[in-house]
Amino acid sequence: MPFKLSAVQLFSSSANKRGNMSFNRKDLLGLENLSKDEIATIIKKAEEFKDLFTNSSNKSLDLAGKTVVNLFYEPSTRTRTSFEIASKRLSADVVSIATATSSVVKGESLVDTAKTLQAMKADIFIIRHTLAGTPHLLAKNLQASIINAGDGFHEHPTQGLLDFYTIFEKKKRIKDLKILLVGDILHSRVAKSNIWALTKFGAKIRVVGPPTLIPSKITELGVEVFYDLDRAIKDVDVINILRIQMERQQANLFPSVHEYVELYQVTKKRLEKAKSGVMIMHPGPMNRGIEISSEVADSPSAVINEQVTNGIAVRMAVLSLLAANRAKRRK
Ligand code: CP
Repeated sequence: MPFKLSAVQLFSSSANKRGNMSFNRKDLLGLENLSKDEIATIIKKAEEFKDLFTNSSNKSLDLAGKTVVNLFYEPSTRTRTSFEIASKRLSADVVSIATATSSVVKGESLVDTAKTLQAMKADIFIIRHTLAGTPHLLAKNLQASIINAGDGFHEHPTQGLLDFYTIFEKKKRIKDLKILLVGDILHSRVAKSNIWALTKFGAKIRVVGPPTLIPSKITELGVEVFYDLDRAIKDVDVINILRIQMERQQANLFPSVHEYVELYQVTKKRLEKAKSGVMIMHPGPMNRGIEISSEVADSPSAVINEQVTNGIAVRMAVLSLLAANRAKRRK
């Protein structure tokens, strides 16, 4: 009989011990400003949807008659597809805008594009953009709900939530877990969303990477900084390995890929120094042979595919909660 976790445990340090719904926002823009109760509400809902998604082919009617628009100005496999599947499982109509062939290339502004789609009765926009703050701009200018699917180096809230959910599901707690983020912290919106969510619940976060890829002010977020992977790895419960973002590297942030691999690739040999049962995560897409060896990526310690499955449950939860809030506002 598998362990049945209850996300209600996550509310234990608040007045909301019974886990009553506590997420009344119009938009999901980031995790920095969400309360513990709001995060716990999303995780509790995700737990219900995971059961529906993995154990039956039934659809929920939570978004029946609603239109969800995917507006991705950067490439994506996991996030875009996962939002599309999540929306369809909630019975929404889904439209994915091919931004490269839309009227954006004729000079239309992002806000005008979104307002045009809103005039077609779009209810929820999922936006990924290279510029930090873009989802916030849309949220201010539209009545539709906005979900941030990654804005520049800033936040990737649904990735942070699915990572949180996967850790909680496997480790049964967040408080006092030692969680190591490896690699390109500077360019990583995933790192920031992970740090903001996990530290609220008492996780002890370490970051490790070349000094040029670790922002100097990161300690202000309550994390411990390491530059030596073999030291950082000791005693941790979870290792979340970040992608080296070749497309965002300005010149010379590390001397060479070869040197990065030597110093920071997570390999089976390095994991011999880690705690037994250490869990390996990666948000994807992976650069096999750079930040992670194939042996580690395909090992039983890796939960990378489970992260992807949990992404559907978390995104169903976010969509369903936002749709319910919209319905409440209209009453
Ligand atoms: N983790 C993640 O955001 O992957 P995609 O870029 O494929 O969406």
